[in-house]
Amino acid sequence: MSNDAAGVVLRTGDKELQLPLVESTEGNNAYDVSQLLEETGNVTLDPGFVNTASCRSAITYIDGDAGILRYRGYPIEQLAENSTFLETSHLLIYGELPTAQQLENFDARIRYHTLLHEDLKSFFGGFPRDAHPMPVLSSAVSALSTFYQDSLDPFDPEQVEISTVRLMAKLPTIAAYAYKKSIGQPFLYPDNSIPLVENFLRMTFGLPVEPYEVDPIMVKALDQLLILHADHEQNCSTSTVRLVGSSHANLFASVSAGINALFGPLHGGANQAVLYMLEKIKADGGDVDEFVRKVKSKEGGAKLMGFGHRVYKNYDPRAAIIKKTADQLLESLGHRDALLDIAFKLEQVALSDGYFIERKLYPNVDFYSGLIYKAMGFPPRMFTVLFALGRLPGWIAQWREMIQDPDPPPPPPTSGLRWGHRAQVRAGVQALTRRCSAHRTARLSSCGCAGLTGAFTRRPRSPTSPGSVAGPLGVQ
Ligand code: CMC
Repeated sequence: MSNDAAGVVLRTGDKELQLPLVESTEGNNAYDVSQLLEETGNVTLDPGFVNTASCRSAITYIDGDAGILRYRGYPIEQLAENSTFLETSHLLIYGELPTAQQLENFDARIRYHTLLHEDLKSFFGGFPRDAHPMPVLSSAVSALSTFYQDSLDPFDPEQVEISTVRLMAKLPTIAAYAYKKSIGQPFLYPDNSIPLVENFLRMTFGLPVEPYEVDPIMVKALDQLLILHADHEQNCSTSTVRLVGSSHANLFASVSAGINALFGPLHGGANQAVLYMLEKIKADGGDVDEFVRKVKSKEGGAKLMGFGHRVYKNYDPRAAIIKKTADQLLESLGHRDALLDIAFKLEQVALSDGYFIERKLYPNVDFYSGLIYKAMGFPPRMFTVLFALGRLPGWIAQWREMIQDPDPPPPPPTSGLRWGHRAQVRAGVQALTRRCSAHRTARLSSCGCAGLTGAFTRRPRSPTSPGSVAGPLGVQ
């Protein structure tokens, strides 16, 4: 194989095949092997797609070595600090932070659709009382396609739009009902006079017999956690959403499949596993060193849950934000939790131990999130459901990006599958947007407000550059 700036030439027998270089906006470029099978009769072997980009995407960028995560060009730290989950959802799905007017419309449309069909409500009664809320969530989302048969066409933009809004609006209601079902309490109807996160907390923790006071500290913390989980490139569940959607399955069916993929303990299910691990260490006398010894000797398959990442080999920027929030929130709620101290100690021991250093294992997003959820009153079985609520706008954005692609590659002849593919990043990306307190989110140019607070800075991109080549398919 020889290599030059235009790509590589692969020689097999007396045949030569040019593998052109596909340039990325930033990050790894890719060799295009789409002609390989046809020209050589052979395929590539790449378990877990560690070396294989499955699509082009302009949604999320990760540099695992540098600990960088950006949604549509915006650093996660800025979004977590200055944005809201609703704004971030708009950013991911529509490609831009909303103007004040766009945000108001988006919010109003979502509020309007929070109610579940009464027949869907009765669906929850069919599950056993001790059902885990994740399969309940995925089943109910799948069932949405039986209630909205008028809007399942992936190629009708109006139908996609109404399905997008319905899903954003109804998933919190479904999640709250899955929880209520598991504890035998009555379902609360949504209250469309309050925003999405508040409404979810009220439906989850409120009772029909008394008023529920939504705690603003909890709202802020949950909102931030949802932002941090909102998208993460081509990870296991997102790739599932794209894969299922590539058969032109509707949005509800595709997202339902993504929820099932998220359920696994190496992916979204890790947050629940972290809490059980911390509780077990505590119950065994709180001996962190002994637990670390077991992990290192892989005794009984022990793992340090909430540590390690397929992509981040330096640190997970989301974990750094969450750790700070966990510390502050637990302090302000007066819930100083012994498990937090065990987690701090565990992190400290692991980060200075050769086993973890050599393998580049650092705390990931799930290491501290469960402690925050616990302090809010969620049982561990709800933790992955909260991850799913956060990831929803990312799944929708990725599904829409794939479906809207005007120039898909031909399907691989043998597999019958079609992976998503995005042709170009949008042209003329702005370099700077600001958030103004009076108008919530507003572009500097269209708002003109003097009282600007906070700032989003966006890395300028070349208007003609292609999208970033999305990373591997492993658990991220
Ligand atoms: N504890 C102990 N050892 C570990 C861990 C861990 N958490 N993670 C990886 N290793 C070891 C692994 O045993 C292997 O060791 P050896 O070289 O001796 O065989 C080495 O590190 C490489 O492991 P790997 O499985 O090849 O690494 P990976 O990058 O493919 O796996 C991972 C990434 C997330 C699946 C893995 O680190 C893991 O299982 N972590 C625990 C589960 C977890 O916290 N998942 C949440 C991921 S972030 C949220 C999300 O987006 O889903």
